[in-house]
Amino acid sequence: MKSRPGAFRQWFRRRLTLGLLLSAALLALPGCFTDKQNQGQRLYAQHCSGCHGEQGQGLGRLIPPIAGADYLARHRAELPCLLRLGQHGPIKVNGVLYNQVMPGHAELSPARLTNLLNYVENSWGNQATPRTIREVEDQLRSCGEAR
Ligand code: HEC
Repeated sequence: MKSRPGAFRQWFRRRLTLGLLLSAALLALPGCFTDKQNQGQRLYAQHCSGCHGEQGQGLGRLIPPIAGADYLARHRAELPCLLRLGQHGPIKVNGVLYNQVMPGHAELSPARLTNLLNYVENSWGNQATPRTIREVEDQLRSCGEAR
C-alpha cells in the first residue's frame, strides 16, 4: 500500500485553521457585549482629551475648548468631516482666534463618530440634539469621506 506522508499534515493543518477560526470568534465575542453607551466617552479619552483636556477645556491660545464652544452649534453639519480630516487655519471659538493644526482621525467609522459627537455635544454643559449614524454618514459625504 502506498503511504501518504502528507495526509496527516494536511489533516492537522485543517484542524489548526478551524481551531484558529474558533478562537478568533471566541475572542471577538466579548466585543458584542461592550457598553456602546460609553463608547463616545472612551473614544474621547483615547483620541481627543490629550489635546482638548479631560473636561473639554482646551489649552490657552493653542487648543480651543469643546466645553461651551459656540463653534459646535454653528458648524454642526461640518463636524464629522472636521474630525475625519482634521482642521487647520484660523478659526474663531467663543470670540478667540486660533490658528493651529488638528490632525485628522481617518480611523473613526461613522458609528464611532456618531457616538463621539453625541458625547462631546452633551457633556460639560453642552447640549445638542443627538445625531443618528445616517445623519453623520450624509455629512461625511460632503467631504467625500462617507465610509
Ligand atoms: C493634536 C491635538 C488635537 C487632537 C488630538 C484633537 N484636536 Fe481638535 N483641535 C485641535 C486644534 C489645535 C484645533 C484648532 C485648529 C485650528 O486652529 O484651525 C482643534 C479644533 C477642534 C474643533 C473645532 C473648534 C472647537 O473647539 O469647537 C473641534 C470640535 C475639535 N477640535 C474636536 C476634537 C475631537 C472630538 C477630537 C478627538 C477625535 C480632537 N478634536 C482631537 C487640536 C486637537
